[in-house]
Order: sequence, then C-alpha cells, then structure tokens
Amino acid sequence: MIETGDFSFDNRLVSAQETEEDSGIERGLRPLTLGEYIGQDKVKENMAIYIEAAKRREKALDHVLLYGPPGLGKTTLSAIIAHEMGVNLRITTGPAIERPGDLAAILTNLSSGDVLFIDEIHRLNRSVEEILYPALEDHAIDIIVGKGPSARSLRVDLPEFTLVGATTRAGQLSAPLRDRFGIVQRLELYTTEQLTEIIRRSAQILEIPCTVDGARELARRSRGTPRIANRFLKRVRDFADVIGDGKITKEIAAKALDRLEVDEIGLDSNDRRMLNMMIKSYNGGPVGLETLAAALGEEAVTLEDVCEPYLMQLGFLSRTPRGRCATKLAYQHLGYSVQEDNEQLSLTGEFL
Ligand code: ADE
Repeated sequence: MIETGDFSFDNRLVSAQETEEDSGIERGLRPLTLGEYIGQDKVKENMAIYIEAAKRREKALDHVLLYGPPGLGKTTLSAIIAHEMGVNLRITTGPAIERPGDLAAILTNLSSGDVLFIDEIHRLNRSVEEILYPALEDHAIDIIVGKGPSARSLRVDLPEFTLVGATTRAGQLSAPLRDRFGIVQRLELYTTEQLTEIIRRSAQILEIPCTVDGARELARRSRGTPRIANRFLKRVRDFADVIGDGKITKEIAAKALDRLEVDEIGLDSNDRRMLNMMIKSYNGGPVGLETLAAALGEEAVTLEDVCEPYLMQLGFLSRTPRGRCATKLAYQHLGYSVQEDNEQLSLTGEFL
C-alpha cells in the first residue's frame, strides 16, 4: 500500500480529538441516563451506587475524576451524572480558565448540588489550581481584596457542588489535586460489540438505514472509540447515498473506509507510518517516544494519546523502559515476514 505521508494527525478521520462537527453530532446522540449508556460497565455500576447514595443523603456527589483516551464519552458521562442527580451541568476546560478570577466567577455562580465539568483538567495552571483546593474541600474560596498593606483576604462561601474532572493523562495531575477526588474512574476502549450497539443506536436516532453487518464493519474500524464510530457513520452515509441505495451495508462500509484509507482493523496512514518507521528505521525498537515523534514530525503527546492506546490494545506495540517496540503482530499486519532469533524480530522478506 502506498502511504500518503503528510496527512496531519489533527484533522485525520480517525483522530479521537473532538472537532466542531463532532460536538454537534455528539450533542444529538448523547445518552441522558446510565441505562442508555452503552459499555463501561464497571464505571456505570459504581456510579449508579454513588449517585443513589448521594441522593438518599441529599448531598452533592463526591468529586469525580474520569480518565482515559480521548473520545470515549467523558463529557457524556458528566452530563449523565448531572441528569441523574437532577442538577445543572456547567462545562469548561482547563486551558479556558486562565486566571483565578475566571474560576471564582464560575464557582460563585453555581447552585447547590451543581456539577462543574472541567475537561483537560491536567492543563489548569497552578494559580487556578490553588483556589480550587479550598473550593473542593471547604466549599469556600479566599479572595484578596485591595492592594499593598491594606490588602485583606476575604473568605466567600460557595454552595456544595461536584467537580467532574476529565483527563487523558492522569499521571500529569498534581498529587494534591488528584487526592481531592473521592471517585476516580478509568474509561476503557470499547469492544466491537459495544461499538456496534452504539452505531445502531446512533443510526436509529439519525434515521440512517444500516444493517447489523454494516454497523459491525464500522465498529471494527473505529479503534475502540465512539467518537470515531459516530464520525464514520456520517461519512459512510454519504457513500451509501451516492454509490449505493442509501443503506449502509457491510460492502458499502468496507468500500467507503478503504477509500478513506482506514484499514480493516481501523489503522490509518499515520498509524502505519509510525509502525513502519519503528520497523524500518529502528529495527522494531526499542525507540524512545520523543525520537519517534521527531522522526515523524509529530508531537509526542499526539502519538501517546491518539495512536498508542489502540496500537497497544491490538498488541501491535509494547512499552518498555528502553522505549517502544513493534510486536510480531504489527510486522505481520503490515505484510513483513518475520524471523525470531533470540527474541529479536528481524525483517526477512520484502515489505509488501
Ligand atoms: N454515544 C457515544 N458514546 C455512547 C455510549 N457509550 N453509549 C451510547 N451512546 C453513545
């Protein structure tokens, strides 16, 4: 297969990063209750208990940290939590809260029990984080009034509220912030069966005719991520309308995604470029993430957040203390024949 090379990671079809079109699609498809939410069974079971307990005590739910790869439904879950608790949801992101005053304005406008959702919470700056601590612990913030010798600290009481923080990188959260979340839940990539169900539900809501096999073909190629699955559904619908009779079948789904250079297991040209680079230039690894990112002209965080979780789930990539390694499965998928000597993979055949 010929690689197209410099397709940007940011606008690629299988990127899990949210685009404006996604937020429009997702708003209409978002389940409102835990019962409607497909997958993440452990998270759902736990959250159902915590929500029920908080409601019985007539208290705000404890603060919740959701972490995991992008596109798995962290915003959706926060909306469900607010809906199930019967309170308002206020949504913002770490980088949008630039100064302590921005956070103070948000906090003082909350009503009792409200859910404040902060996406990318690992990107909050330290001065903002510091006023968050007393808000989370004591439901109060300390505001400095005046300047110089006459400056005074004024304590302002806040209503009880629930912070739902979301992050793709829990390891980057400062320890004091992480410790203030009573509930910490990790979201996992979805199985093909779960994604098939999500696609069928979305197709029904959007009134897109889609066979079960068609949904499953989209699911297989959606790299475990509902955001990608819903994006494919909309794109493949265009192909079904123009080259078919409007119905998404297995054949149409496969043809459309082949054209979009998404292979039968969901890898796109960038995933293949990354694996090919590891295999051909670094003998399959180990190679450091930064080295690989520089060689590919990409950001290390993009490789880490977008490519690696799925490649690791497939068993194509392993992380070792000395760097990343491509596995035998990756060699085989890309059409290399491999010979194992002393547990070292080496290329034998020509790249197909
Ligand atoms: N849409 C996106 N994610 C979903 C999920 N987990 N369940 C149902 N619909 C979804």
